[in-house]
Amino acid sequence: MHIRVPMDSAAKALGADDVVRALESAARAAGVEVTVTRTGSRGMVWLEPLVEVEIDGVRHGYGPALPSDAAAILDGSSSKALGPVEELDWMKRQTRLTFARCGVIDPLSLAEYEAHGGLVGLRRAAAMSGQEIVEEVKASGLRGRGGAGFPTGIKWQTVHDAEGPQKYIVCNADEGDSGTFADRMIMEGDPFSLIEGMAIAGLGVGATRGYVYLRSEYPDAIAVMRRAVELARAGGVLGADVLGSGQAFDMEIREGAGAYVCGEETSLLNSLEGKRGVVRAKPPLPALEGFLGRPTVVNNVISLATVPVILEKGAQHYADFGLGRSRGTVTLQIAGNVARGGLFETAFGLSLGEAVNEIGGGTASGRPVKAVQVGGPLGAYMPVEKFDTPLGYEEFDAAGGLIGHAGLVVFDDSADMLAMARFAMEFCAVESCGKCTPCRIGSIRGVETLDRIAAGDPSALPLLEDLCETMKDGSLCALGGFTPYPVMSAVRHFADDFATSKEAAQ
Ligand SMILES: Cc1cc2nc3c(=O)[nH]c(=O)nc-3n(C[C@H](O)[C@H](O)[C@H](O)COP(=O)(O)O)c2cc1C
Ligand code: SF4
Repeated sequence: MHIRVPMDSAAKALGADDVVRALESAARAAGVEVTVTRTGSRGMVWLEPLVEVEIDGVRHGYGPALPSDAAAILDGSSSKALGPVEELDWMKRQTRLTFARCGVIDPLSLAEYEAHGGLVGLRRAAAMSGQEIVEEVKASGLRGRGGAGFPTGIKWQTVHDAEGPQKYIVCNADEGDSGTFADRMIMEGDPFSLIEGMAIAGLGVGATRGYVYLRSEYPDAIAVMRRAVELARAGGVLGADVLGSGQAFDMEIREGAGAYVCGEETSLLNSLEGKRGVVRAKPPLPALEGFLGRPTVVNNVISLATVPVILEKGAQHYADFGLGRSRGTVTLQIAGNVARGGLFETAFGLSLGEAVNEIGGGTASGRPVKAVQVGGPLGAYMPVEKFDTPLGYEEFDAAGGLIGHAGLVVFDDSADMLAMARFAMEFCAVESCGKCTPCRIGSIRGVETLDRIAAGDPSALPLLEDLCETMKDGSLCALGGFTPYPVMSAVRHFADDFATSKEAAQ
């Protein structure tokens, strides 16, 4: 009997290790021979720990499993039976390109990785010139999944064309946005896809060294990635002669310093160099003067882990999915007060309302949805009236929001949006690197101004708007520059939460 249980840290936090122990001891008691393989997560976090039992080549799910369910799972009588996992609505509705293997394979088996399409892209890339690789990524329309949505191929072209004795690939695995976990999930569930993507990037731009800047709060992902790098090196995927191509690429994992701003690419580079995580002025662009002053590609985990499938299936296959200038798939991370939280990969174009209500199933509390913060702590609070906004970079921009790393945090009607606006300003104050005044001082004044509004001072609201304008226009990076998004979206869309306090004081 072959059973699979995720070793993903969300599944483990929900008791996956205890369930494995219970399954093994129930198997011994029943005299059943059982092989348990640990996988990544399928992304259905509300069903974790999700146990999958293979019957005639089909995986049948049981979840959320408790240790006490073990015996009934083994004899097939469990009330937690969900049927074939691939047939579940959540799975069937997805377009899994980046996450195709996540939850399916043993994350640390290079053989299983290859058996499921792994390394096809790198082999193809090894036979191409650097410029051909860059052209392929450009043609796919892939845009950075870390936040800004900058075209990946154009960034690679700059590094490809730059002169330098040494170039670098730096993977941004700081994943600081609230409600996001796609980077963690792929690193824990399909680490070779990131390694392969970084190797392809290296061959593409002529970089022979790579670093993954991985947040220290992800010990499981760090351990899996470190082991995967060793295995990839032993398997000839990394090293002096990548898959016999005669080209070198090797990489290592570096732990982050635990600051939100260290996810900003120049601050990250400083931290990687052992300096204080403070933002650098641009220019120079990291593509020209990045890590140790050398031409450097800085890309998000999902951007890089998507490159292998682009090279495997061809740029056109990827570009055929999506909406407008947002090509391919978006890996939605649905979290907060939501009935079905998890990772859902779909072509760009799904509406926000569909994502929250149909996929996420509405709130966990059963109360009406009030707001959804999209794109992390710097993203706008989208009201229900904006639920028809399609998920696309330009479409969200036109609606006053941003997609960012595609985290959706759902709030029900009990949320106090004045308190949320205050939280956004306070977050900025706490996480500011301190380099520029509008952010360092502005965020503190912002908290004070919101406290005045809460205390019923009507003159404070125009002051807040003014302050937000200054932060937007005068900040060096998006931490100070985008904090006005959550703050002003709360003011504009949920005026009642701000008016009540004013009226109370009148
Ligand atoms: C305050 C701040 C925090 C950021 N945090 C992250 C992060 O955690 N992960 C990430 O990939 N990008 C983050 N970014 C965006 C990066 O600066 C950069 O745009 C990104 O790593 C580029 O990769 P991409 O083109 O693949 O998206 C952050 C930006 C800012 C301003
Ligand atoms: S906006 Fe804030 S985080 Fe960004 S450089 Fe200025 S002080 Fe630092």
